[in-house]
Amino acid sequence: MNSVLKIEKIIFGGDGLARLPNGKIVFIPYTIPGEIVEVELIRDYGDYIEGKAKKILERSSERIDPLCEYYGICGGCQFQHIRYSYQIVLKEQILIETFKRLGWKEDIPLDKVIPSPKEFFYRNRLRFHIENEDLKMGFIKRKTHEVLKIESCLLGEKNLNKVLLELYKNPSWLKLSVYSKRMKIESSPEENKVTLLFWTSLKPKRRDLENLFSIKELKSVFYWIKGERPKGPFPENSLHGGRRVFKNVDGLFYYVQPGVFIQANWDINCAIMEIIKSLNLSIEKVLDLYSGMGNFLFAFIQNKNIKKFLGVDIDLRAIEDGIYTAEKAGINGRLDLRNMSAIEALYSAIKEGEKYDLVILDPPRGGCKELMKLLPEVAEKYIIYISCDAPTLVRDLLDLRELKYVPMKIYLFDMFPQTYHFETVVLLEKIK
Ligand SMILES: C[S@@+](CC[C@H](N)C(=O)[O-])C[C@H]1O[C@@H](n2cnc3c(N)ncnc32)[C@H](O)[C@@H]1O
Repeated sequence: MNSVLKIEKIIFGGDGLARLPNGKIVFIPYTIPGEIVEVELIRDYGDYIEGKAKKILERSSERIDPLCEYYGICGGCQFQHIRYSYQIVLKEQILIETFKRLGWKEDIPLDKVIPSPKEFFYRNRLRFHIENEDLKMGFIKRKTHEVLKIESCLLGEKNLNKVLLELYKNPSWLKLSVYSKRMKIESSPEENKVTLLFWTSLKPKRRDLENLFSIKELKSVFYWIKGERPKGPFPENSLHGGRRVFKNVDGLFYYVQPGVFIQANWDINCAIMEIIKSLNLSIEKVLDLYSGMGNFLFAFIQNKNIKKFLGVDIDLRAIEDGIYTAEKAGINGRLDLRNMSAIEALYSAIKEGEKYDLVILDPPRGGCKELMKLLPEVAEKYIIYISCDAPTLVRDLLDLRELKYVPMKIYLFDMFPQTYHFETVVLLEKIK
């Protein structure tokens, strides 16, 4: 059944929202607020209906032709049909709407919205599924479990795309990929090179690995042997030639092992560092509970007033990278990085009676609800919460507000152009 509907807004997830005359909500992907759309009503889920745009009857002036040939089939992008400047406006609306929907009643002190300098070719890593028959490397098709063969991804940096195309032609990779279901390519921007990682069920032949280096952009190749717990990475000594190299806003080089987390859009990572430095917080002790390799701790390292830096992360290899990075820069005496969980770090601070002026929280998508009750015993003045998931962020901010941490400034960073995702940075201050 088809209906003619007007799109009211875009919701978290990227779909347009419209209403039937009886008030029932319809979600329609690839639409823009204000557009009049002929919609096929596909499936009724009770409290909403899934719709499909059959025809745009009145087109938004913000509608453009998507650049990517896979757009609409691939599940990766939701906003390529929208002019970039308007994507930013929509993300701001989505953020505000998320606060309101989850019950935030006070002011939302949104200070700045920072677009990505690059609208395309910004991602420094791409992850692919592999299907072996007639080699397919690709992403999962929207709303299916099928792999869509991809020969270029416009979100990935250009070097990553070059390597992807070369892999399709490389005879050794054609052999190696037969035993593999998953691979990643990660760039090393300061070297203009790319690392290949793959997960395999058969130990690769050395000659096949060596032959991959006919791809001139390749810097290193690592593999994991699949099993209940994958073993790897091999070669084990990733210190030689394996670490990716990034440069931060202060000219400090970061060294990052294959597969270790680093923010996907480096320009935006640097923009976040600039903003958190510019807050000029009066602090002496900083605790980063999801430090990774220490990325955001390093933003404060030049502040001579800070006497203690502690970063913790459950990824041992990330901690090794932070220590290696600090050693190379001769600043390892300044900071303490430990392989432990956020909650362990809080319990241990409480036990030792340690308090911090600033606690940085940059948790995975699920947020950090489990830390809430412990934070007041450790976070004395400020919290900086960095989040890639607005709903879990707001859920945690509601808890923090109950504990007397009040958002003073909020920044939206467009870490992920062409998709509905974005990064939010919140400065909270503890009120007495
Ligand atoms: C979004 S990343 C942020 C890393 C770092 N802040 C950066 O900018 O590179 C989240 C990090 O949290 C770590 N992590 C996940 N669960 C954790 C936990 N329970 N305790 C401590 N670290 C955790 C992951 O290993 C990952 O490095």
